[in-house]
Amino acid sequence: MTIVECIRASKTYATGGEDVPALHAVSLTLERGEFAAVVGRSGCGKSTLLNLAGAMDFPTSGQVLFEGVDTRSLDDAGLARLRRRRVGFVFQSFQLLPSLSVVENVELPLLLAGRAGARESALERLRWVELESCARRMPYQLSGGQMQRVAIARALVHAPALLLADEPTGNLDTATGDAVLELLRRLAREQRTAILMATHSAEAASLADTLVRLRDGRVEEIRQTAAAR
Ligand SMILES: Nc1ncnc2c1ncn2[C@@H]1O[C@H](COP(=O)(O)OP(=O)(O)O)[C@@H](O)[C@H]1O
Ligand SMILES: [Mg+2]
Repeated sequence: MTIVECIRASKTYATGGEDVPALHAVSLTLERGEFAAVVGRSGCGKSTLLNLAGAMDFPTSGQVLFEGVDTRSLDDAGLARLRRRRVGFVFQSFQLLPSLSVVENVELPLLLAGRAGARESALERLRWVELESCARRMPYQLSGGQMQRVAIARALVHAPALLLADEPTGNLDTATGDAVLELLRRLAREQRTAILMATHSAEAASLADTLVRLRDGRVEEIRQTAAAR
C-alpha cells in the first residue's frame, strides 16, 4: 500500500522578488512499512521534501498524493486531520515542552484532539520506546537520546501512517543516535509505519531500506540498501 507518492513534484519558494527553487520534478513512492532516508548536502531540499510529503506545504507544480489523495485537493478540515492524525513529525531539536512532564508531553496531542484514554495510550507508547519508567520526569532530567525517544513516542500517539524525521540524530552522539535509529527500524518493521528521514549521517542512511539522494533539488539516485529485505 502506497502512503506517499510524489509525481514530478517541484517547489519554488517565492521570497520578496526572488524565486528560490528548492525541489525539481521529484518522483518517488513510499510504501507502508518502508524506511527511507533522504540524503544530500545542506540546502539540497531534504526538509522541503519532508514538508511536501506531510502536507505541511504544497508543490508549486506536480503532485503529492497522500494515501491516494492529492494534498492540494484537501479542504482545511481534511488537511488538519491529515497533519494531526496521519503524520508524525520528529525534529533534530526534540521540541518537547519543558514545563510538562514526559507523559504529559506524549499525551498532549490526544488531549488536544479530545480523545479519551490519553494517559493510558501515552504510557503504552512510552513502554514501546522503553521509557515508561521516566514518565513522571521532566524533559531536563533526560539525556538527549531519551528526549528523542519521548519525541518519537509523542509523534506516534495517533498511530500515524507516516513518520517524518528531520535530522533526528543530528544532536546526538553516535551511541545514542544508534538507539534512536534502531527504534525507527523497529517502527517500520513492527508497526508498518512508513518513515521518511532526512539525514547527514551515512550510518543513519545505511539502516534505512531506501536511499534517496538529492542534489540541488533533484533526485540523483534512489536505491534499495543492504538493510532492505
Ligand atoms: N521558507 C523558505 N523560504 C525561502 N527559501 C527557502 C525556505 N525554506 C527553504 N528554502 C530554500 O530552499 C532550498 C532547500 O532548503 P531545505 O529544504 O531546507 O534543504 P535541506 O533540508 O536539504 O538543508 C534552500 O536553498 C533553502 O535556502
Ligand atoms: Mg533541512
